[in-house]
Amino acid sequence: MNTARAIAHSNIALVKYWGKRAAVPGQVDDLNLPAVGSLSMTLADLRTETVVGPGDSDSFSLNGEPIADSMAVKVFRHLDRIWTATGESRERPTCRVDSVNHLPTAAGLASSASGFAALTLAGAHALGLQADTSALSTLARRGSGSAARSLWGGFVRLDRGQLANGSDCRARPVFPADHWQVRLLIVHTTRGKKAVGSTAGMEESRQTSPYYAPWVDSSEADLGAAEAAIANRDLSRIGTIMEHSMFKMHACMLATRPPILYWNGVTLEVIRALWAARQGGLEAYATSDAGPHVKVLCAAESAPEVEATLRRVAGVIDIQAVRPGPDATVEILS
Ligand code: PMV
Repeated sequence: MNTARAIAHSNIALVKYWGKRAAVPGQVDDLNLPAVGSLSMTLADLRTETVVGPGDSDSFSLNGEPIADSMAVKVFRHLDRIWTATGESRERPTCRVDSVNHLPTAAGLASSASGFAALTLAGAHALGLQADTSALSTLARRGSGSAARSLWGGFVRLDRGQLANGSDCRARPVFPADHWQVRLLIVHTTRGKKAVGSTAGMEESRQTSPYYAPWVDSSEADLGAAEAAIANRDLSRIGTIMEHSMFKMHACMLATRPPILYWNGVTLEVIRALWAARQGGLEAYATSDAGPHVKVLCAAESAPEVEATLRRVAGVIDIQAVRPGPDATVEILS
């Protein structure tokens, strides 16, 4: 077995996914197929670096701390998937996995996207799996849906697919990072971890939210429109689609029983301040995920002014302006 190091960048969906489709309806399975497609922007700077190599026993560290909880279980279950894909009949060799998150973990900033993408890439190279990026992305999806999108830089689309075995549920790059000089401002509204994990939340929404079916039914149209808007570098068009996709997803979450509310008061104040600035001619659009932070899309040249405006909102802790990020990379260390 080799030791391999991978770096994968996080991504934020401009058109969101929320919900799983199962091979057997009603049964969440290991394929982890999304109920709707999604389209994301990969983020520069926000990334996970993971080294996978041989170890005396399975061990996992995150940011230098040994981890033995459910997160470690997920990591080794994922290495098992990679090992199964190699077709080897022997038991998987025990592995040492060391990850460093250059972003907050489990705070709705897509650490699972960069985390599972980096783990897939490093794990595949360490365990000797010969697979192209598309196949690796399909494997990454089984760890976390959004991770399927983090194998590539720029703008990436994950199609829902129709087949029960998930073979047509694939991510693909649609535009490279240098296609468009936009910025995504990550507006931090708290330091804490998120309350409800996305997998559990999605299943609760599927079972109880009256808005789940309309959410699923209406999202395909957003995807096509969003891809066309990015192709034309049309900020007001992509911004409008992006905000609508986000509010539909949160409406579906809010109508879940019990309700799933990821926002805090500052989240809403940031969105209001953004809308007020937009009324005044500053073009910027909001999205938010399974957490209280707001991500704001704008042109590179207006990013400083948008940032200054949002820093004035009481409760905003920090703002990072991020450009479209690169492809994931891997190197064999030994
Ligand atoms: O598959 P997960 O657990 O990474 O869920 C991602 C869900 C959202 O971030 C809310 C939306 C998305 O498409 O990234």
